Amino acid sequence: MSDELKTFLEGLDSLARECEACKGQAASLKELEEIRVEYLGRKGKLAQNMQTLAKLPNELKPEAGRKANEVKQAITAMIDAWQDELNKAAAAASLSRFDPSMPGRKPGVGSLHPVTLAMDEICEVLVGLGFEHATGPEVENDWHNFEALNIPQEHPARDMQDTLYVSENIVLRTHTSPVQIRSMLNKKPPLAVIAPGKVYRRDSDLTHTPMFHQIEGLLVDREVSMGDLRGTLTAFVRQLFGQKTDVRFRPSFFPFTEPSAEVDISCVMCGGEGKNQDGSTCRVCKGTGWVEILGCGMVDPNVFKSVGYDPELYTGFAFGLGVERVAMLKYGIGDLRMFFENDVRFLEQFA
Ligand code: DAH
Repeated sequence: MSDELKTFLEGLDSLARECEACKGQAASLKELEEIRVEYLGRKGKLAQNMQTLAKLPNELKPEAGRKANEVKQAITAMIDAWQDELNKAAAAASLSRFDPSMPGRKPGVGSLHPVTLAMDEICEVLVGLGFEHATGPEVENDWHNFEALNIPQEHPARDMQDTLYVSENIVLRTHTSPVQIRSMLNKKPPLAVIAPGKVYRRDSDLTHTPMFHQIEGLLVDREVSMGDLRGTLTAFVRQLFGQKTDVRFRPSFFPFTEPSAEVDISCVMCGGEGKNQDGSTCRVCKGTGWVEILGCGMVDPNVFKSVGYDPELYTGFAFGLGVERVAMLKYGIGDLRMFFENDVRFLEQFA
């Protein structure tokens, strides 16, 4: 064997021995990585040997290369084994640090959103009064959202509701009232339904959000009167806000009801006094002692006609209320935006 080759092979052997002597020297994975780089890195000791190999005469290269590979594999295996040992030791150490008497981490308890809470509570009261749940799509067509509700093309009421259009004939429903139409098309009277859900308007300021929640109510039968409407809504409002709540009906206008009314309840904040205990004006009712809570009325005969109900045979009442508004009054929340910011500190108070 040529001297040249002999020297080269011996150099590789001593490199392997040198590396073996590092056993136990790395106290951490980081230190072990340094050893790996020192021997196997791009500019490491083995790489230096390879440079020598390149300069050997061609006929010596195969054997020199074989040996270099062997040594590389041996060093790699050695370092991998040390790495395993370090990992095992670290796992064992962390186990020995495990203290079973330490208190566990407490998972945060979630809560229902106040709008959901209010919605559930309103529906529960209305179901107790005999109403059944009904649903309809949030993407609605013009006919259900407007036309069938006695709001024709040129009706000024269409301006009252800044509508979000999906296309010429398709809208994001501006109220839950189209579910009245869908319910009546689905079923013959008698009928008593509520429809909770999201509604959309092109409106965004301190007191309006582009999406909010409403609950619609509809009752149709023979000989339903305004007295029934009054009795039902009075019972509803008192179950929701307390038996001492005063209720008043103010004449109003909606295209789909005739006559129409808005319902006010005695202010939940000041008890109807209009002022706080310190004599200052109540900010919730602005000193009037009343807060508006819903719109309602007797179903307009034109609405019955559009769904094929005989207005000579049937009468009915309808109402619609804003859920955020009820939630604000019930929970004493002064700012509508609270509902949509989803600040956990706010939400967790409803747990
Ligand atoms: N749809 C009305 C609105 O969004 C609310 C309403 C008023 C619904 C009177 C009714 C009703 O069913 O009878 O402003």
